[in-house]
Amino acid sequence: MQLSLQVNDILRLPNARETGGESRMKDDISRVRLSYGRAIAKSGFLSRFYDIFLASDRAIARKFVNTDLEKQQELLAMSVNMVILFPQENKIAKNAVGRIRKSHCREGLNIEPRFYGLWKSSLIEAVSEHDMEYNPQIGDSWEKVLQIAIDHIVEGY
Ligand code: HEM
Repeated sequence: MQLSLQVNDILRLPNARETGGESRMKDDISRVRLSYGRAIAKSGFLSRFYDIFLASDRAIARKFVNTDLEKQQELLAMSVNMVILFPQENKIAKNAVGRIRKSHCREGLNIEPRFYGLWKSSLIEAVSEHDMEYNPQIGDSWEKVLQIAIDHIVEGY
């Protein structure tokens, strides 16, 4: 029935449709949410991400020449939350990632797909330095979770 489906979507109750793969993704997401919480609580995390990301390719640094990086850090902090919630079909996250997909496309900010791998590895490197409980399993979960929103954004290029 439509109503019970909606309630399940809101509460994220496990149901018969959910396979082992989906519940593994849930574990990945909770691992990533906790890791992100620990990393962002430590000062310098977001600026470290931008240091790593901007140094990873001159073409990336050029994209940010006119950017107020302080403001950009706040936007990033929020949008990483949206990226993490995106695989669970969270509506707010879907809208937020959809907006990023539009703004980053060829006709917009023109962010070439090849840059997203560097975005992901820079973020994970910054996390690994700031999350004191970081380990390879947490790193794998970050890889998987981030890739889902990245695939969606890159598809819109
Ligand atoms: C999943 C990955 C990414 C997320 C979540 C993300 C998020 C955002 C957000 C929320 C904004 C500001 C609002 C908007 O324009 O939509 C933004 C702006 C921007 N992003 Fe991204 N972004 C991602 C990947 C990238 C990559 C790979 C690049 C490569 C250079 C990039 C370059 C930029 C630039 C140049 C701006 C504009 C900055 C300005 O206002 O001056 N982004 N991004």
